Amino acid sequence: MPILNPTLREAHQELSVDEEFVERYNRPGPRYTSYPTSPVWTDSFGPAEYETAMADAERKSSPVSLYMHLPFCESLCLFCACNVVIRKDKSGTPPYLATLKREIDRVSSGVSRQRHVTQFHWGGGTPTYLSPEQMEDLFTYTRERFTFAPDAEIGIEVDPRVTTPAHMETLRKMGFNRLSMGIQDFKEDVQKAVHRVQPYEMTRDIIALARQLGFDSINVDLIYGLPYQTGGSFAHTVEQIVGLSPDRIAMFSYAHVPWLKKQQGSFVKFLPEGMQKFDIFRNGLLKFLEAGYLYIGMDHFAKENDELAVSQRNRTLHRNFQGYTTKAGADLYGMGITAISGIQDTYAQNHRDIPSWENAVNQQGIATMRGYRLSQDDVIRREVISRLLCHTVIVKDEISKTFGINFDGYFAAELQRLKMPQEDGLVVINDKEIRTAWLGRIFIRNLAMVFDPYLEKQQLAARPLFSKTL
Ligand SMILES: C[S@@+](CC[C@H](N)C(=O)[O-])C[C@H]1O[C@@H](n2cnc3c(N)ncnc32)[C@H](O)[C@@H]1O
Ligand code: SF4
Repeated sequence: MPILNPTLREAHQELSVDEEFVERYNRPGPRYTSYPTSPVWTDSFGPAEYETAMADAERKSSPVSLYMHLPFCESLCLFCACNVVIRKDKSGTPPYLATLKREIDRVSSGVSRQRHVTQFHWGGGTPTYLSPEQMEDLFTYTRERFTFAPDAEIGIEVDPRVTTPAHMETLRKMGFNRLSMGIQDFKEDVQKAVHRVQPYEMTRDIIALARQLGFDSINVDLIYGLPYQTGGSFAHTVEQIVGLSPDRIAMFSYAHVPWLKKQQGSFVKFLPEGMQKFDIFRNGLLKFLEAGYLYIGMDHFAKENDELAVSQRNRTLHRNFQGYTTKAGADLYGMGITAISGIQDTYAQNHRDIPSWENAVNQQGIATMRGYRLSQDDVIRREVISRLLCHTVIVKDEISKTFGINFDGYFAAELQRLKMPQEDGLVVINDKEIRTAWLGRIFIRNLAMVFDPYLEKQQLAARPLFSKTL
């Protein structure tokens, strides 16, 4: 059965939940860009294990996805939970790029030229912190060392405040076809409170230029739950966004993690909580549905004919560290500080600070700091969670056949734990499948959490590990 938006009346009805309901489900929980989640990974997984995983991938000749982390930003947005290095002066960039090239040399030496790069992504931080010349040099260097598929998705995260027409023209000329830009909110009070002043006109103009230059897909990032936002003000921001007609929207829940990002503590008094935050989310969601966008799940919307929406309907959608993707089966090689790789049944993360990363790359080419090799049970659960998040349905027989198990027997305890969400109308379960109801798609992280046995221990940790699910 294809996954469709509800009618607006249904959406209004489903979203009229009360405070007690919101409290019950608004729990700390992962976003499942990986399973098992990163707190489970250990430092007993290092460069040697990473090399073994690379050799496995090489034998399988799998397609390749490349991620490069460019961590620099000129100033800190107070809400930011990304891995950033704030530096107004740009003297740190050339040495960073020189080390990155050494890492590219090492990684590319383990990836043969018959394997195609189907995805290439520059994330950050702010990749357009680099000058157009630096971007071109890095891109050319990479392109010379890997084989790019003719239809490769080549994407970049841009901050409109520091991105010039010269950056945009250079990106397009090099072959970037996807653009993702941070906006967060257009309301002035919100922008001032989070130290990110970005006038509407600036965003409007850069989107117009991206269209003119022929980028295939434009994504914008919004955040709900920021200080001074209200349901009404956010609805207005979403109306302005709809007017700009991006192909995709990421409407993230503000992740409040002051134990990791101290600067977030500064506006804690002004944060909308509980029902107030739900109301902001609800207003955003309804506005996007009204405008004809499809709710892909978790925090993503796409135009009905966008390939993300199409692949969700065909059940070929996947999820990785960059969120939802249509490119399945590729091994992900991450480069730069904190970058994550997902190769065969392993995850690996690079050193988090520049000196340690530089040191590791200089010594051995590879900068793995920690990682994880999945057990067979992890692999089964990863598939179940991925299907839930991407397709919103788990067909029990498909899992049983793929892994040679009896689904109902293997997941007896989980089916028991799904009883409450079932009674609350989040999920419909029968002999054949577990299907999320529309409301369940909003609280889908909570449903995925049922299948994650590591959470119980993680919840006993002295400090919370995850932000809340709403
Ligand atoms: C690397 S930034 C995007 C590129 C560029 N640096 C910019 O800000 O325009 C990635 C996105 O992560 C999201 N983000 C950052 N911190 C967040 C938080 N605490 N909660 C939710 N989303 C967050 C923002 O929407 C941001 O646009
Ligand atoms: S939101 Fe973007 S620009 Fe702001 S600090 Fe984070 S990565 Fe840098």
